[in-house]
Amino acid sequence: MKRDFKTILITGGAGFIGSHVVRRFVNNYPDSKIINLDKLTYAGNLQNLTDVENKPNYTFVKGDITDKNFIDELFIKYNFDAVVHLAAESHVDRSISNPTEFAITNVIGTINMLNAAKKSWANSMEGKLFYHISTDEVFGSLGATGFFTETTAYDPRSPYSASKASSDHFVMAYYHTYKLPVVISNCSNNYGSHHFPEKLIPLAIHNIKDNKPVPVYGKGENIRDWLFVEDHASAIDVIVYRGTIGNTYNIGGHNEWKNIDLINLLCKIMDKKLNRATGTSAKLITFVKDRAGHDMRYAIDSTKIQKELGWKPSLQFEEGLEKTVDWYLANEAWLNNVTSGDYQKYYEKQYVQR
Ligand code: NAD
Ligand code: DAU
Repeated sequence: MKRDFKTILITGGAGFIGSHVVRRFVNNYPDSKIINLDKLTYAGNLQNLTDVENKPNYTFVKGDITDKNFIDELFIKYNFDAVVHLAAESHVDRSISNPTEFAITNVIGTINMLNAAKKSWANSMEGKLFYHISTDEVFGSLGATGFFTETTAYDPRSPYSASKASSDHFVMAYYHTYKLPVVISNCSNNYGSHHFPEKLIPLAIHNIKDNKPVPVYGKGENIRDWLFVEDHASAIDVIVYRGTIGNTYNIGGHNEWKNIDLINLLCKIMDKKLNRATGTSAKLITFVKDRAGHDMRYAIDSTKIQKELGWKPSLQFEEGLEKTVDWYLANEAWLNNVTSGDYQKYYEKQYVQR
């Protein structure tokens, strides 16, 4: 039976994936109150949500998941019956420069959320849900064959994935120890609109547009399994309402691309969209020093969510990539806004001084 929730807390709702999840829930569930809690770090941006900000069932709260007292009070104020927890530090390269920040936000922040839910639901856990959004990176790095399934052993290899793996373990520990009604999903690489241009695809689109070098780590041979962000949001939707408590679900696109092949495809699309001669954008590709500990390949087996919950990706990659490029070209003001100020310092440190 489909669950029903009166008040849903979405954390990290001003970020890339969170904003798509907020939009979907606000529009699809007008009888539920959707509260978006976000600290608005460099990655959080309320401009991602201008189309839903005035909807009567939507409320934004600025706040920090590492502030325990604030989180406890928020649960008392709103009496949430479901939590969809996305707030996190999410960029692997930043975790290599600052692992502690990732432990604080992703591990301690998640424990604060779990404790607040446990306290708020102490009288009855019936009809409640704590849904933790995680990543396929917790499973480590694959060789040329095989896929991550829900039973693949955790083997995180970057400070980011170690912090996400740790938070996943705490979520499961609260299920086993305190019977907190939890569910976790582990998703592959997302792409789409509102993606912060520190990540490969939006960074490349931005640089190609401005005729700047497109940095490809190492030889560009690493492989990622790309999923359109709105398909991740639709998977989150089915898991919120029909996912089995205490379970984990792998979400992915069955869409593996070597980084260099992906960038070449993107260059071809950008040439077409910008009316450049074929091959012009590809000249911008620049191989740079590899990421430390760079995981070679991620690939998700999403059979469980497909069979159990009937979810499947809706878009082919080329179609999704074209839609994504169109969005960035039509939203230059958004791109200019997020790439001014601190982004310039980050870019200089990550790509010019490295
Ligand atoms: P993002 O970096 O774009 O957004 C993260 C959001 O969390 C931002 O809005 C930020 O302001 C907020 N936030 C950060 N620290 C906070 C704090 N202390 N308190 C409150 N809010 C805080 O990230 P994303 O790519 O949208 O990822 C969202 C979630 O999905 C993360 O948990 C990430 O691990 C997971 N995930 C991401 C991908 C991907 O491809 N991007 C894939 C699988 C899973
Ligand atoms: O797999 C899911 C994960 O995907 C999420 O959990 C993370 O939050 C998300 O950031 C993403 O991690 P990746 O490290 O795979 O994404 P990123 O876009 O940073 O890099 C994708 C690939 O491209 C990776 O092999 C590194 C490479 N890369 C990245 C950047 C930023 C480059 O070659 N050049 C670059 O400039």
